[in-house]
Amino acid sequence: MRRIGILTSGGDAPGMNAAIRATVRYALSSGMEVYGIECGYDGMLKGNIFPMDTRSVSDTIQKGGTILKTARCPEFKEKEYRQKAYDVLQAFGIEGLVVIGGDGSFRGMKDLNDDFGVPCVGIPGTIDNDLAYTDFTLGFDTAVNTVLGAVNNIRDTMTAHNRACIIEVMGRKCGDIAVYAGLAGGAEIILVPEIPSDIDKVCKIIRQDKIKGKNSVIIILAEGVCSCNALKEEILNRMSDISIRTVKLGYIQRGGAPSMSDRVLAARCAVRAVELLKNGDCGGRVVGIKDNKIIDMDIAEALAIPRSFDKDLYNIATILGK
Ligand code: ADP
Ligand code: F6P
Repeated sequence: MRRIGILTSGGDAPGMNAAIRATVRYALSSGMEVYGIECGYDGMLKGNIFPMDTRSVSDTIQKGGTILKTARCPEFKEKEYRQKAYDVLQAFGIEGLVVIGGDGSFRGMKDLNDDFGVPCVGIPGTIDNDLAYTDFTLGFDTAVNTVLGAVNNIRDTMTAHNRACIIEVMGRKCGDIAVYAGLAGGAEIILVPEIPSDIDKVCKIIRQDKIKGKNSVIIILAEGVCSCNALKEEILNRMSDISIRTVKLGYIQRGGAPSMSDRVLAARCAVRAVELLKNGDCGGRVVGIKDNKIIDMDIAEALAIPRSFDKDLYNIATILGK
């Protein structure tokens, strides 16, 4: 393959720039040309496409966000728009694509491959870690570390005041950020969408923790369960004598310098993606990591795998938080 395009799509994630950099430099070193597509599928439709060289990705490995920008493009779900996008790719001579994004972005990529046979490889980029075929997605490790920094600071002040605090974290319908941050941050309670929440039990733990002499209670709440304010109200309806605060961490979880793990994962995934495209018509594939080995898989197969929740990790976190 002579010329490939690269785009980032959906929510940005730390490590996307490291993946862009690695894709560009590895492809160039393999004798291919790389064109950057700005703002995901929206930029593809509009022809916001430019050639990239090794200097285009200088000084980016440590940066959060995405130098290619990202966007949500609902039109791409319709074939008529994908036809337009395909025509644009043809006009630019782009023969294959690297798509860095999550589940939705991969569905777009699959459709483009199904409709027009464009060889595409997906690199998993989302802080949510909600793609079943891979153990980890780019940005997850960094986001969890950001949450941990916040938990540490919040713990200090909650302890000083003998308070409980509900910390709401991102993840859409996935509880992984909550579980990993809860385990690593020593949270007393972790609430995730994968496990039904029992507010009476939450209140009981808060009471018992007080009796046991704990002077702060950290509750990590995944956004897929409910909002931190709704949970606070539910708790106060049952026990009005406690001091409880809420923090919604929000977008600080999505920004910031990628961790070592995310940068290394980005490089390893990008190299596999370029190798797949270099070897010709690879169809529609995704790359990821399983048991610390880089894997690739057919996109339809990967998207059909049901997401499993690591109940053991959740149980360990719950036991250790007592
Ligand atoms: P993520 O990739 O992080 O899951 P989204 O779900 O917002 O983010 O999807 C990103 C973009 O991917 C959408 O704006 C749209 O352009 C494209 N997309 C999402 N779902 C589909 C689909 N079913 N078919 C085609 N394109 C899709
Ligand atoms: O998918 C990443 C994510 O940050 C989710 O955790 C969150 O629910 C969502 O994106 C927020 O999206 P938006 O940028 O549209 O507010």
